[in-house]
Amino acid sequence: MNARTAFVTGAATGIGKGLVEKLDREGWRVFAGYNQTPPDALIAACGPGLRTMRCTISDPQSVADATRQLEEELGGAALDLLVNNAATASGAGGGMENVDIDAFHHLFEVNFWGALRLTQALLPLVRKSNDPRIIIVGSPSQYITIPLGAQYPISKVALAKMTEALRIELKPFGIQVTSLEPNGVKTPMTAFTEQEKKDLWATFPDHLLEEYRRHFEYPGDVLEAAASMWTPEKFADKAYRQVVCAKKLKPRYILGPKAWVLPTLNRWVSKSAQERLFERMFRRS
Ligand SMILES: NC(=O)c1ccc[n+]([C@@H]2O[C@H](COP(=O)([O-])OP(=O)(O)OC[C@H]3O[C@@H](n4cnc5c(N)ncnc54)[C@H](OP(=O)(O)O)[C@@H]3O)[C@@H](O)[C@H]2O)c1
Repeated sequence: MNARTAFVTGAATGIGKGLVEKLDREGWRVFAGYNQTPPDALIAACGPGLRTMRCTISDPQSVADATRQLEEELGGAALDLLVNNAATASGAGGGMENVDIDAFHHLFEVNFWGALRLTQALLPLVRKSNDPRIIIVGSPSQYITIPLGAQYPISKVALAKMTEALRIELKPFGIQVTSLEPNGVKTPMTAFTEQEKKDLWATFPDHLLEEYRRHFEYPGDVLEAAASMWTPEKFADKAYRQVVCAKKLKPRYILGPKAWVLPTLNRWVSKSAQERLFERMFRRS
C-alpha cells in the first residue's frame, strides 16, 4: 500500500518539526514547508523520504510555488493530511492604544490569511484523498484576554471561527477539519526572550511608558511563570495518537499540561469573573 501523504507548514522549528518527525517515523510520506529558518535540523532527524520546500504562507507567490512543487512531487497522488501549523506571535506587541497597525496586519497575514490562502491552494490535492483531513493549529489563548499581548490571541479567535466554517462547509465532501490547540509546549514561540520584552516596552511613547509599566506586568513573564511545558516530541506523540489516528475528528483538541483549565473556565465562569481573574494575573496595580 502507498504511504499516506502529509504537508506541514512552519516545520523547521517547534511543534511543526516535532509533528513532521513523528509522521516520518510512522511511515508517512511527508512534505515540510519552512519560512526563514533553514530546515537542516529537521532533515537530519528524518529519513530520506522527507521533502522540504520554502512555503512562506504570508506571501502568495511563495504559496503558489510550494503548491506547484508539491503537485510535481505527488505526481497525481493525493494529499491525505494538511497541517496548517505556521504562525507568529512576534512583532505586533503593545497595547490596543498604541499597537502598530501595519505590524498587526502582518500578524493576521500569517496567522489568519496565510492559513486560509494555503488551505485554498491545497484543497484540490486534499480532495483527491480517500480519507482527507485538515488540521489547523489554533491556540487556547483564544479563551483569555492578555493585556499588552492580545494581538496573537485575537488572530487565533478569528482562525478558530474560520476552522469551524471550513469544518462545516467541507463535511459534505468527506473532508474532516479540526482545530488542534497546544497548551504549553516549549518552542521558540514560548521562549519569551529579554529582547521581546524590551521590544514590547519600546512600542510605548515616552509619555505613556511609565503609566503602562506602573499598571501592567510584561505578559511573557506572567505566562512563563504560570506554564508547565511539554516538549514538542511529547506533544507530537500525543497529537499523532489522539488526532491524526482518530477515525472521526472532533471539532477541537486542546493538548498540553493542564489543557482543561482554560476551556473549563470559559464554559463555567462568568465573563466578568474571568475578566477580574485576568486583571489580577496581568496587572500590577
Ligand atoms: N508552543 C505553544 O505552547 C503553543 C501554544 C498555542 C499555540 N501554538 C501554536 O502552535 C503552532 C506552532 O508554534 P510553535 O510553538 O511550534 O512555535 P515556532 O517554533 O515559533 O513555530 C512557528 C513556525 O511558523 C513559521 N512561520 C512564521 N511565519 C511564517 C510565515 N509567514 N510563513 C510560513 N511559516 C511561518 C516559523 O518559521 P520561521 O521561524 O522561519 O519564521 C516557525 O517555524 C503555531 O500555530 C502556534 O500559534 C503553540
